[in-house]
Amino acid sequence: PTNLHGRSLLTLDDFSPDEIRFLLRLADELKAAKYGGYEAPRLARKNIALIFEKDSTRTRSGFEVAAYDQGAHVTYLGPSGSQIGHKESIKDTARVLGRMYDAIEYRGFAQASVETLAAYSGVPVYNGLTDMSHPTQTLADFMTMREFTHKHLSDLTVTFLGDGRNNVARSLAVGAAQLGVDMRIAAPQTLWPEAAFGRHLQDIGAQTGGRFTLTENVREAIAGADFLYTDVWLSMGENEAAWPDRIRLLTPYRITREVMAGTGNPFTKFMHCLPAFHNTQTEVGEHIAKQYGVTEMEVTDEVFESHASIVFDQAENRMHMIKAILVATIGG
Ligand code: CP
Ligand code: NVA
Repeated sequence: PTNLHGRSLLTLDDFSPDEIRFLLRLADELKAAKYGGYEAPRLARKNIALIFEKDSTRTRSGFEVAAYDQGAHVTYLGPSGSQIGHKESIKDTARVLGRMYDAIEYRGFAQASVETLAAYSGVPVYNGLTDMSHPTQTLADFMTMREFTHKHLSDLTVTFLGDGRNNVARSLAVGAAQLGVDMRIAAPQTLWPEAAFGRHLQDIGAQTGGRFTLTENVREAIAGADFLYTDVWLSMGENEAAWPDRIRLLTPYRITREVMAGTGNPFTKFMHCLPAFHNTQTEVGEHIAKQYGVTEMEVTDEVFESHASIVFDQAENRMHMIKAILVATIGG
C-alpha cells in the first residue's frame, strides 16, 4: 500500500508513477466527499506555513481552503512583511518554521530555496511554484484530464505550446513521462528546455511508455492531441524587457480556433494554468496592448471562452489536489 506520510513534494520526480496515481485517486475521493457532504477532517490541530515570495490567487486559496476544510490552520507569509529573504536566510527560516509548523508551502524563485527548506525544516515541504517547476499544478491538471476523457492516461496525447522552458511546461512534461503520456512541446528553439531535460524525460519514458517530442512544427505537434495546453509568454520574475521578443517568437504558437481544429480530434480540450492573457481587461493586458499593439497573447478570447476550455475545472482541482497532498503527507 502507498504511504506518503512525512514526504515533501519539491518536484514531480519525488513521486513514483504509483504514488502519483494514488494522489489522483485520493483527490477524486476528497472531491466527492466534499460535494457529498461527508468529508472527514484529517488535519485537525495541524499548522501549515504558506510562504509566497511571488503573488498567487489559486495556489494560496487552494492551500487555505484545503487546510480549513480538513481542520488545519495556516499562516500566510507574503512577499513582504516577514524576515524571509530580506534579513533572514532560507536555511535559518527553515529551522524556525520547522519548530512551529507541521508542514511548509513555498512559492518563490530558485528551486534551491524549496530544497533548502526541506533539508533544514524537518517537516514536509510543498513546492507552490518555483522558476523550475510547479508540481501541484501538474497533479491537478492530470486530475482534470481524467475528468474530461474516457481514455487511460497512458493513451493520451498532450501538447504544450509556448515557452517550453518554463515551470509549468517542465512539470507537465515530467508528469506526462511518469504517467506514460505522449507529450509534445511546440516552441521556438530558443525557448526549448536544455537537452539534458529531454534525456531525463526519455529515461523516465523508457520505464513507463511515455513519449516526448520537442518541435517547432505546430501542425505536427498538435496532430491528434486530446489536450492543448498553454501558459503566459513571460513568467513571474522574468524581465519585462523581454516582452517584444517573446511576442515575436511566440505569436505563431498562439492557440486559436484554427489550432484547436488542427488537431483533427473533435474532442480536443483547451487547458491553461491561469492567469491567462486572452483580452485586455487587466492592468498587464492593457499595458501590453498599448505598448505592443497585441490584444490577445497565448490564447484567443474565443478559445478561452469556448466549450472546449476546461481552465476553471483545472483551477478548482488545484484545491482538491492540494488537499490530497496535505492529507497524504501529514494527515491523521
Ligand atoms: N496557476 C497558479 O499557480 O495560479 P496562481 O499564481 O494564482 O497561484
Ligand atoms: N509560468 C507562470 C505560471 C503561473 C502560475 C509563471 O511562473 O508566472
